[in-house]
This record gives sequence, structure tokens and C-alpha cells, in this order.
Amino acid sequence: MNHVADPLVTLAARLAPAFEAVAGRTGVDPVVRPSDRADAQANGALAVAKEIGKSPREVADAVVAAANGLQGVCASIEVAGPGFLNIVFDNAFLGGELAKVAADDRLGVSLAQRTRKIVVDYSAPNVAKEMHVGHLRTTVIGDALVRMLEFVGHEVIRENHIGDWGTPFGMLIEHLLDLGETEAADHLSLGDLDGFYKQARAKFDASDEFKERARARVVLLQGGDGETSRLWKLLVGLSTRHFNAVYDRLGVLLTDHDLMGESAYNDLLPQVIERLDKLGLLQESDGADVVFPPGYTNRDGDPLPLIVQKGKGGFNYATSDLACVIDRVERLGADLLLYVVGAPQAQHLSMVFDVARMAGWLSEPSEAVHVAFGSVLGSDRKMLKSRSGEPLKFIDLLDESLTRAEAAIAEKNPDLAVEDRLAVARMIGIGAVKYADLSTDRVRDYVFDWDRMLSFDGNTAPYLQYAHARICSIFRRAEVDRTSLRSIVPVIAEPQEKVLALAALGFDSAVADTLDKYSPHRLCTYLYDLATAFTSFYEHCPVLKADDEVRRSRLALCDLTARVMERGLGLLGIDSPEQM
Ligand code: ARG
Repeated sequence: MNHVADPLVTLAARLAPAFEAVAGRTGVDPVVRPSDRADAQANGALAVAKEIGKSPREVADAVVAAANGLQGVCASIEVAGPGFLNIVFDNAFLGGELAKVAADDRLGVSLAQRTRKIVVDYSAPNVAKEMHVGHLRTTVIGDALVRMLEFVGHEVIRENHIGDWGTPFGMLIEHLLDLGETEAADHLSLGDLDGFYKQARAKFDASDEFKERARARVVLLQGGDGETSRLWKLLVGLSTRHFNAVYDRLGVLLTDHDLMGESAYNDLLPQVIERLDKLGLLQESDGADVVFPPGYTNRDGDPLPLIVQKGKGGFNYATSDLACVIDRVERLGADLLLYVVGAPQAQHLSMVFDVARMAGWLSEPSEAVHVAFGSVLGSDRKMLKSRSGEPLKFIDLLDESLTRAEAAIAEKNPDLAVEDRLAVARMIGIGAVKYADLSTDRVRDYVFDWDRMLSFDGNTAPYLQYAHARICSIFRRAEVDRTSLRSIVPVIAEPQEKVLALAALGFDSAVADTLDKYSPHRLCTYLYDLATAFTSFYEHCPVLKADDEVRRSRLALCDLTARVMERGLGLLGIDSPEQM
């Protein structure tokens, strides 16, 4: 199949030669944008005018005179205002493009021109600590990016870099021994990871004898003692079982197969120090081994070091992240490392990447990107808390989303059979939580608001899911074979049909834009616009009651809209119920 482009992209390609002829050079951007004056507007004349010292209107007129590639794409082109070009698409052109997209399983979304091997580091909760809402963002954003990157053809390796190593494990193992393995297992299998951690911590702070035992245990753990390793594995297993329960409820792709915790890099840590030392990058500062990447200073303006070893064998988070880079680039052969990690770790990651570059471990074409995100806030704009004031547990939050979605759906559609209601509530509840997170620009904080995210109006999952379900219900009544609609050329006549057609044809650009900045909210905005376009189409253009040819044409538009919606939501990790 010929690749179908977004009509705006086709238009830009067809206009570019005219702009180039007028500007007298190649590589001129016609600056094509959607517009409510016409279907599209090209604003490139403004920059060209400045470049060649003419007025924008003169340039615009000259472009129109030179444009000869628009036949079959545009119905009209007009100069407006200070030199804008207002363009109306040819309806037959749009119909033809729709037919091509409808016949394509990928719905027009192109494969990446250069396929890469990409490690996505996301979720990464800590063993024997409760997952909190902060882990919601990394898990949900990471999962959406993984789905999109795979869809455009990249080879993606998911890595769940859990915190499963370090000094706290001494006290945790001793506490486990004090409780007895069975009782500890019972305690932890309830998912009360924080309680277990706090008890261990309290003993550590109160008793010198316990502190001693904990320290000795860390030494045994690092020395590879068999019995200690067994107990450590027990602890890790109990925690990951809890993580898996959350992943399962949330419907994300992570499994045990993706676990690549800090402990996995343990053997590489001494090598990190040796290699840095050999390269002459290691310096001593306050008794620690450090590297000074240029450009970082502390509050007093002194150079800021990245500490990689405190005392012999005293490796830390930075050492293990450096080992990660080595492993991902040298062993896995990855050329893009994405770190879906909260914004507060920006400086840490930036220093790690710089040191890795200085050491030559991270060089062209390999690159590392911190996909940072802001916090989830309560209505008081402080960190989200439970009603009792404790940090909100992830699993409780997901349970609540189900209860609330069930109530919302019972109200909206009381006729839905009880057994369907539960399945639908699950899709809506989880979808709402994910979408609320994904639809805000990830770098910003957002306020967690049940009523807003579960509303059937506005930029929410239920609104988008409802657009899809509505189309499914049209088809339940229409008595046509949906696949038979995928070989007809829709006729675009009404303005609402055209707006919907342009939206459906923009899927490829939306996915590309989203991946360009690893910003899922762009895909959300696109899907919201598609749903809005469908809503007004459905209000203005009768479908089932229309006459034969128009009916089939409008049904074809409905079918394509539903497919794009379902696929788009699927790329965000959100299900599309057929009724709700
Ligand atoms: N476990 C860490 C935390 O909960 C996140 C790890 C992120 N990944 C990394 N390679 N540093 O904050």
C-alpha cells in the first residue's frame, strides 16, 4: 500500500517547491497549520519576506502564482491578511485518503525510518517499600511509550530497575529472621510493605544489638553468603509479588521477565571504579572517590562531584546507574536509553550521563534521555495523601477507581447487565486514572481529582471511550458488515464530515509528534479532538437515517473513527469498551 500522509503534510510537501522558487533557495518550510478560517493555513511567507526584503503579501501572491502541484489536493488557495495562505482541501482528495487509511491495518501510522534498540527504564519501585502514587506516573507513562515505540517498529527492552540492593537489606533480613519466615511472609503478602520496613527501622534505631546484626548481615549479603542470599531472595520475591498484583490490576506490560533491579549490576560495580580510574577521571574528595563532570556547582559555586565510592566497596546509586549505562550500551547494544524518572532526579541523571560520556561509554549514535515528570498533588496542592493523612497506597487508589467507575456507569447506563458492568467499570476506572495522568504534559504537576477524571465530558478517558462505545452501538443497529465499509470511498460534503475526516487522517502525525518529545499528552489531545469532531459530526449528520450512499459513507467515517480511537487509546494502555 502507498503510504498515506496527513493531508497537512501532503499540502506542505506540495507547497514547498513554490516557496523555494520564490525564496531562491531549498529547504523552506511553508509552515502549514490547521485553521478555522479554511481547512489549513500556510504562514511561511512571513519568514521568506524578511529573507528577500519583500512584503509578505507580495511573497504570498508569488507563491500562489508559482504553486502548480496543488491540483487534486486543494479546491482553493487564497491570500489573506498580511500574507497568509488560506487553503481548502478538495473533498474527493480527502475521500481517497480516507479509503487508503481505512484499508490499512496500521491506520496510516508509518514505521520509524530508522529502527532503534531502545531500553525503557520505568516503574522501578523499591523492595520492602510500598508503591506510592509517585510510581503511578513512571509506570503509566513508561508503559504508553513502550507501546508506541513498539508500534512504530523499534526494538524495545523494558527494564524495571527496582531498588533491591543496599544497606537497608541488612536490617530487613534480620527483622525477617526475628519474625520467623512464615510470619514475615504472611505480613508481607498482605501488601503491607511499609509496615514491615518501619518496624525494622524502629528496631535499628532503638537497639545496638540489632544494629550490629544488621551491619554484619550486609557484609554477608555482599559477600554472597548462601543462606543470606536465600533470605534476600525471599524478601524480593514477596515484594515483586505485590508489584505484580498492582501491574495486573493496572494492565501494564511489565512482568518478572522485565525485572532488572540494582542488584543485577552488583558484579559490574568494581569495574566502574577501575575503568574510571584507568581513564584518569577519578579524584579523591573528602575521603570519597568522585568524578567532576564540568558545569555543575553547589550553592557556594564550588564544583559539584558525582560520588561513586565512599570507602572501599561503598558503592551507591550513582555507581549502579553508571553500571546500567555500560550494561545497556555494551551488552544489550541499545542506542537509546529512556529513563522515565521523576523530575527531582534530573541532576543525578544528568551527571551520570555526563560522566558516562566523559568515559566514552555513551557516544554517538547512542544517547540517553531523562523522560522527567512532575508530582501528583491532592486538592490542597500538596503531595497526594489518603484520608488518614498517610501517603496514598497505589493499590487502594486502584480499588477506589473501580468502585467509583461502577457507580458512575450504573448511573449513566442502568440497563447494562450486572456482569458487563463490572468489566466495563474496570476499563473506565483504570482508563480514567491512566488518562488523567497521561493527558497532562508530563513535566507539570497535576491535581488528582476523581470527579474530573471520571466525568463523561471534557478531556477524560470516559469521554473518549464513550465516543467509541457510541459508534459500536450505531453498528449494533446498522446491520452492516463493518469490514465491507473499508473498501468504499467516503463522500465528504458537510463541514462536520470534513473536520472529522481531517482528524482521522491526522493519526500518523499525532503518533510522530508524541514520540518526538516522548510526551503522551500530545496523543491524548489528538484523541480528544477526534472525539469532539465525532460528537459534532453525529449531532449534525444523521447516519442511520440517511439515504443509501450517504449512509454507507457516514458509516465508513464512523468505522474509521472508532478504529483510530480504539488503537489510539490502546497505545496509551487504555481499553475501549463496546458499550457503556
Ligand atoms: N528506585 C528508584 C526510585 O524509586 C527509581 C530508579 C529509576 N531508575 C534508575 N536507573 N535510576 O526512586
